Amino acid sequence: MSDRPADSAKRTWIIASGCAGAVGAGFAAVPFVSSFMPSERARAAGASVEVDISGLKAGEKLTVEWRGKPVWIIKRTPEQVAGLPKIDPQLADPASKRNPDELTPEYARNEHRSIKPEIMVAVGICTHLGCSPSDKFTPGPQPSLPDDWVGGFLCACHGSTFDLAGRVFKNKPAPDNLEVPPHMYVSDTVLLIGSDKKA
Ligand code: FES
Repeated sequence: MSDRPADSAKRTWIIASGCAGAVGAGFAAVPFVSSFMPSERARAAGASVEVDISGLKAGEKLTVEWRGKPVWIIKRTPEQVAGLPKIDPQLADPASKRNPDELTPEYARNEHRSIKPEIMVAVGICTHLGCSPSDKFTPGPQPSLPDDWVGGFLCACHGSTFDLAGRVFKNKPAPDNLEVPPHMYVSDTVLLIGSDKKA
């Protein structure tokens, strides 16, 4: 018999994003995502988390918890995917060459930093001092961001900014891109966060 409580089996792992009020045009909080929830004991030990992303629409982000950390799953629009290489000159490490073993698994060392171009998976913790950056998906001028802002994330703690692939902009306190956690697709619409080894 499972040791997980019946009610918690239905609980989702959506964590409030750091800036619910800053969700931009075309992006919305996902109200629900069904996800497998391992037992508390397994979770504390760092069990992998299965996430059904079939309901995730282009322009939306959801957050699940893995090893006590927020993991973001973002479905980028085709325009956002196409825009990623254009901002390479503004980024500190556009090709994710720094600390690749810790931050960018081999299958994410590409232009979009992900397995599928449209689906980005990243740990939502700033590589400076560990704050969780806020969604700033709306392009264009706005407080605390440059006028040519293309959409991404702002860490309000000390002003680091990241693009929609979790890549840090130049001359920011954060030394590295956001971590891409180990992950894999169990099916076309189910992601496993925390493991990338096929059984
Ligand atoms: S913790 Fe993010 S900029 Fe300092």
